[in-house]
Amino acid sequence: MNADMDPRPREAAVTMPVYGQLPFVPVRAAGCDIITDDGRRILDLYGGHAVAALGYGHPALTEAIRRQAENLLFQSNAVALAVRAEAAEKLLSVAPDRLGSVLFVNSGAEANENALRMACRVTGRDRILSITHGFHGRTAAAAAVTWNSDRWYGFPQKPFEVDFIPRDDCDAAIQMIDDDIAAVIVEPIQGVAGGYDLSTEFLSTIRQETEEHGVLMIADEVQTGMGRSGHFFAVQAHGVEPDILTAAKSLGGGVPCGAVLASKDVASAFGVGDLGTTFGGGPVAASAITTVIETIQNEHLLQNVRDREAQIREQCVLGPVEKIQGMGLLLGLICDRPAKEVRDALLEHDVLAGTSADPHSLRILAPLVIGPEHVNHLSEALASIPPGNH
Ligand SMILES: Cc1ncc(COP(=O)(O)O)c(C=O)c1O
Repeated sequence: MNADMDPRPREAAVTMPVYGQLPFVPVRAAGCDIITDDGRRILDLYGGHAVAALGYGHPALTEAIRRQAENLLFQSNAVALAVRAEAAEKLLSVAPDRLGSVLFVNSGAEANENALRMACRVTGRDRILSITHGFHGRTAAAAAVTWNSDRWYGFPQKPFEVDFIPRDDCDAAIQMIDDDIAAVIVEPIQGVAGGYDLSTEFLSTIRQETEEHGVLMIADEVQTGMGRSGHFFAVQAHGVEPDILTAAKSLGGGVPCGAVLASKDVASAFGVGDLGTTFGGGPVAASAITTVIETIQNEHLLQNVRDREAQIREQCVLGPVEKIQGMGLLLGLICDRPAKEVRDALLEHDVLAGTSADPHSLRILAPLVIGPEHVNHLSEALASIPPGNH
């Protein structure tokens, strides 16, 4: 490639150096493949941080975005839009029954920021409980409830008092949830922590205790949502109904957007001017949300996610992989060596997986549309990685 065309030095010269970047340059993507500037075709099992739910170039999504951009590119929440109403109706129709009202936003962190604000406001309390190893985003409140965020937090103080319940420790949850707490925020499958799936017992205990003490339960489904767990939302796999649920990432299949879903009770505490954002619920994002949900339904993708999970569990505990945690297509392949080494070796076989905060967990966040042949490719690539000295 002509060195002048390589975006890496150009980007590095003009953008902040805050991201580690992978050693290839995508120019196009189709189906589940990324096509690079040097003509490689890489199987993408990372999906741009769990965003590309329908893979790339899905005709339904591409057409919905194109049509909406032509008809009405943007109007804010200052006017009602049929396309926004439809997206909210669809989203509520696949969410836990308790949730009855939507606030559209732009990202996962913004969704959690609003969820936490709502909880403090509704309860009149100023203490939040989170879970050890959880990740909730980089804005002030979302970062405050993120485990180990102190090294990059940056702000002089946190907006409320935060304590962390040790994950899967039911006794600690019972002890820590009391009448002073506004909310407990929990990722049902901890994504950044390496695809660690919290137990039904732990999530049910949180639900029971929060209910008993007038505390709101916030399910952060930013990474787990929109079918990734094999259910529209991972709490549905556990039979747990939160008061507030946040979504982003796969929600728009690649169009940036987020949403806060709240119970009617919680929503009724808010009036004009209490919450808001310019771009949230914009028409292009709204049409993408509706299309993602319809496509998951029309193409039976929840079943596909469960089938591909079963196939991965059957075929991929080999080579460097010792066991598998997580659920659906949010899996942590626990390796006998640093996951980064396995990630780099897989890339030589044109397979992209992710790392995580757990140095031994190789994260699979594949598009929900992957087929058996893609899992075969992963399995063969893993099998060909030479044993390490571990
Ligand atoms: C569970 C969870 N919550 C929140 C966020 C933040 O989302 P965003 O990067 O869209 O702000 C992430 C991002 O990785 C996440 O995994």
